Amino acid sequence: MYCIPRLEYFTPEAIDAAVKELLAALDDEARAAIDAVACEHFRNRWLARKNGLLTQVNDLWLKAAPGPDKRYVGIVFKVLKAKIEEAVELAEINMLSLEAEFGEEQDLDRRVTKSIADWRARGGGQTLDSALASRLKSETLDISLPGIERPLGVRHPVLRTLDELISVFVKMGYSIAEGPEVESDYYNFEALNFPPNHPARDTQDTLFIANQELKAQRDRLLLRTHTSPVQIRTMENLSPPVRVICPGKVHRNDAPDATHSPVFHQLEGLCVDTNITFGDLKGTLDHAMKSLFGSAVKTSFRPSFFPFTEPSVEVSISCPFCGGKGCRPCKQSGWIELLGAGMVDPNVFGFVNYDPKKLSGFAFGMGVERLAMMTYNVDDIQQFFYGDMRFLEQFA
Ligand code: DAH
Repeated sequence: MYCIPRLEYFTPEAIDAAVKELLAALDDEARAAIDAVACEHFRNRWLARKNGLLTQVNDLWLKAAPGPDKRYVGIVFKVLKAKIEEAVELAEINMLSLEAEFGEEQDLDRRVTKSIADWRARGGGQTLDSALASRLKSETLDISLPGIERPLGVRHPVLRTLDELISVFVKMGYSIAEGPEVESDYYNFEALNFPPNHPARDTQDTLFIANQELKAQRDRLLLRTHTSPVQIRTMENLSPPVRVICPGKVHRNDAPDATHSPVFHQLEGLCVDTNITFGDLKGTLDHAMKSLFGSAVKTSFRPSFFPFTEPSVEVSISCPFCGGKGCRPCKQSGWIELLGAGMVDPNVFGFVNYDPKKLSGFAFGMGVERLAMMTYNVDDIQQFFYGDMRFLEQFA
């Protein structure tokens, strides 16, 4: 025989499970109430004020529910009360109509009809609806409240610049390669021909990962200071010819100011084949700069030094703002320095088992934020990373 359980938990899930059991019992017992005696018993068992099952629900569930859970149990109680009353009344009507069908009494039909009419007049058949309605009402949404606006995002200006750069090189047949931001000493330095303790390492203020001292130097981890290690990873995995660009985030131990950020982005390029010459490097970069800044832009190559290229160059473009006459962005010089580049050093080929006697190649690397600052006339690199909507919204 079903009895109202004491509940351990009053979560909606626990309540719903208990309700399910109760309704199943109610249904079973309603079906069994087929004559007048059984019906009376059914009514008393569920609805008696003193210790009827509904009263027990009130005591054991509603009263016992802790504060925060009371609201839900209260709603459930109302619905249960309506359901139980409805079940009892329906059972009584059923019982009467059974008697009318099979019994002797002449006026039973009338009694059934009247009983149904009375029941309806008392709100029968609607109690459940109205309990549900009141539950719904207490839980309705006020659709006249303004909704939460979710503005559409746009691409960040740095990524937009990077995308434009990438598309210029993809059109020339380059594919895209990526590498990890947490890199080993070997890929970030050694294989790029920065020997251990070589002073060239000082040009890249490096953020090292802590507690790496027990490892061999080449395995110690750091945050990559440039995208050049992806050159090595690419050549380790691909046999020549190779034409890749490597976009990505890099890290330097630089104090933030208007032109420095400890996190920024680079685009690296690498082309290796037989008979690649410095002329190919110049032609490629000249074409890329003209695609980006317009065909009037000129490129200039001046000697420089990077350990992984020989010879190395700094590449400048004629100022796209003033056409070379001199203005604020070009610091009155008419030129803007944009890239480092050079012919891949034969030592680097040695690290990846490429034959320097048969192969040659060029590489280049550029800072993406610098380009974005020029393109969008931004005078403080920090703006890209503050996340200030007033700044970012201008790119929507
Ligand atoms: N990795 C260099 C830096 O971050 C930039 C660079 C210079 C990349 C010359 C190259 C290159 O591929 O050939 O300063």
